[in-house]
Amino acid sequence: MPRLELRHLATLRAIAGARTLADAAMHEIARGNPGLAFKMLSRVSRIQAQLTESWAVLSTMTPADYSSFRSALGQSSGFQSYQYRQLEFMLGNKNPAMVRVHRDNPAALQELERVLREPSVYDLSLRLLHAQGLRLPADVLERDFSVPYAARPEVERAWAEVYRDSARYWDLYELAEKLVDVEHQFQVWRFSHMKTVERIIGHRRGTGGTSGVSYLVRALDLRFFPELWSVRTSI
Ligand code: HEM
Repeated sequence: MPRLELRHLATLRAIAGARTLADAAMHEIARGNPGLAFKMLSRVSRIQAQLTESWAVLSTMTPADYSSFRSALGQSSGFQSYQYRQLEFMLGNKNPAMVRVHRDNPAALQELERVLREPSVYDLSLRLLHAQGLRLPADVLERDFSVPYAARPEVERAWAEVYRDSARYWDLYELAEKLVDVEHQFQVWRFSHMKTVERIIGHRRGTGGTSGVSYLVRALDLRFFPELWSVRTSI
């Protein structure tokens, strides 16, 4: 299937591009320059939208097409994309178990361990909120970054203030909306992946060893930036 292989290659390049841009955006947010991060985050969202588009081609694959090469995949799976994992970690979906998958690739392992321990784009954004006068508890700003962030009412209240007084907190308001765009596009990608997988393998197990579609459905409930979603109900 030469066309699908080419498309796959383009996808991997796109994931690498999104990761590099997210890294640059995080650098600017950490330096207190969110304005310089906006365009980068917009590009991450556009890349994700392109990745989602590629499912239109992949979904033309029939169960029989897939069966013709399924055995060649062995236990290979999307879990082995360290660039994808790095992007997920940067966005905040930290999971040490996903690092161990790369134990045979020391360079990838080292890089993933670094990103796992560092603050995510959301952790950095919360520090910015605090620096701009929207005081947040110390244990929100300094925590074990290798575990996923858990939502806090104080943080939702701070974002609510940003949304209520957007003129005053324009940069933070814009940053929040850019982050929501990124997460929205990521969710659409996850959903398209899950639906494509469902039509190709039904409810068979994944090559990576998970339950397959039901595993991918559970991932739809993950939230990178929880208060940016909950605040929409409270304002
Ligand atoms: C079209 C055939 C495909 C099928 C049947 C499929 C199926 C699956 C399944 C069942 C999983 C869960 C892990 C497992 O047990 O393997 C998974 C994970 C994953 N797949 Fe696919 N997939 C397909 C194509 C793709 C493509 C083209 C990409 C992107 C280039 C991709 C990227 C990923 C990623 C990144 C994960 C990890 C997701 C996470 O950690 O939440 N998959 N896939």
